[in-house]
Amino acid sequence: YQIPFPENEPIFDYAPGSMEREKLQEAFKKLMDQDPIDVPMYIGDKEVRTENKLPLSPPFDHKKIIGHYNRGTAEHAKQAIDAALKAKDKWAALSWEQRASIFLKAADLIAGPYRYEMNATTMIAQSKNAYQSEIDAVCELIDFLRFNVYFMEEIYSNQPGSSSGVWNRMEYRPLEGFVFCITPFNFTAIAGNLPASAALMGNVCVWKCADSQIYSANLIMKIFKEAGLPDGVINLITVNGPDAGEVVFKHRDFAGLHFTGSTAIFKGLWKEIGQNIDIYRSYPRIVGETGGKDFIVAHKSANPDEVAVAIARGAFEFQGQKCSAASRAYIPTNIWDTVKKKLVADVNSFKMGAPSDFSNFVNAVIDKRAFDKIAGYIDFIKEQDDAEIIAGGNYDDSKGYFIEPTVVVTTNPKFRTMCEEIFGPVITIYVYNENDFEKTLKLVDESSEYALTGSIISRDRYAIDLATKTLVNAAGNFYINDKPTGAVVGQQPFGGARGSGTNDKAGSYLNLLRWVSPRTIKETF
Ligand code: SER
Repeated sequence: YQIPFPENEPIFDYAPGSMEREKLQEAFKKLMDQDPIDVPMYIGDKEVRTENKLPLSPPFDHKKIIGHYNRGTAEHAKQAIDAALKAKDKWAALSWEQRASIFLKAADLIAGPYRYEMNATTMIAQSKNAYQSEIDAVCELIDFLRFNVYFMEEIYSNQPGSSSGVWNRMEYRPLEGFVFCITPFNFTAIAGNLPASAALMGNVCVWKCADSQIYSANLIMKIFKEAGLPDGVINLITVNGPDAGEVVFKHRDFAGLHFTGSTAIFKGLWKEIGQNIDIYRSYPRIVGETGGKDFIVAHKSANPDEVAVAIARGAFEFQGQKCSAASRAYIPTNIWDTVKKKLVADVNSFKMGAPSDFSNFVNAVIDKRAFDKIAGYIDFIKEQDDAEIIAGGNYDDSKGYFIEPTVVVTTNPKFRTMCEEIFGPVITIYVYNENDFEKTLKLVDESSEYALTGSIISRDRYAIDLATKTLVNAAGNFYINDKPTGAVVGQQPFGGARGSGTNDKAGSYLNLLRWVSPRTIKETF
């Protein structure tokens, strides 16, 4: 290949006293202190603003206004589609190297001049600590942009066989129409990658980001434009879902949905697309990464300290707001007391507060709706006889949406919070009889509608093998002796099946394959 296998972007650790920490603190302060900004929509060659301005506030300080964004209407969604379709032919006709070069330049801009600002926008808008923001908004986004180019070439190079007098070839055309991208608040990298990956393959996109991520999405658009992305290739709108859907899903040229978000919304969209199927020129590609109820199972041979660390990090990094976050754990009786002691001590030692103080491991959850939902679950748990909170359990939204990391132990393996996704800093643990490992694995498999990530922690190779086989369909990303979060682009392609998504593996060629419609050409000499 022309493109060498990329290296993952090195992660800055922002150690106390380091120059990197100082620069990030400066960028953070500058953004917090500047006059409120007015974040536009990006439609074609225009930055679009409306009369309907909505406030932007950091989740850790919800009375502070850092800016506004502009609520668009169905008309703006229509304009975005028109702009995309207008840009389409020229964009698709560009050589792949020209398209690649734009996204590689964007990656370099993020790695270099925009690194601290990119990190700080996500710390502020999404209330991530500096390290979590670094691995997301900086490194993972850069990795997606660089690895996508490698995967693209991998796809284009895949050619059929030929014979004497016949030359067969595959032409990896973009989809005929536009791709609609709906992106989540919790990963700036995913938000940027969904439109970028489809666009790299020659498609044009309408991008509807989560309102709570618009602050960092705005910077991504600026960087893409600075890197040379032509107008209209990616159009960013802040239109309510139903208003946008009314136009997008009724359009003849709707060619694909690239989605990350909740299972319920994804199912609703799939139904809507199904109802409109006769309208479309082609069967739309539907790619979705949705919910999770991700597990950690420890075997009786596991090192209890490793189990405690996997739970604490897997469940509470970024306040558990990862679709991959560990939210149920199955621990055998023989190691439970030691696991419990270390886990409770670790969780009680976590500092909680605004990301401006880099020693705060736990920050606020994203918004009032999330806060109320998670607090509601905690209240519910407190009322039950078959569950007990052993760490955390308090919450306070007077200044920001803060919820303590909360560890719950239940005697009921089908307890509500062992099965339902909470999307917050709550993990529920079921302590099983150490001799019931096999039975417990079956329980893990049966207890949730999801199948995104999961971990087995064990020093016994037979137990690892049994878990790997029994849980074959229970997780799209299966981790042996590690926490179930933190997939790295190019190393652990990411995605799950069942209620967790279409498993089109972000961070691999499999995802990019969905954004092409290959043409086979046979030429006879
Ligand atoms: N890719 C993230 C992780 O693995 C989740 O989206 O944690």
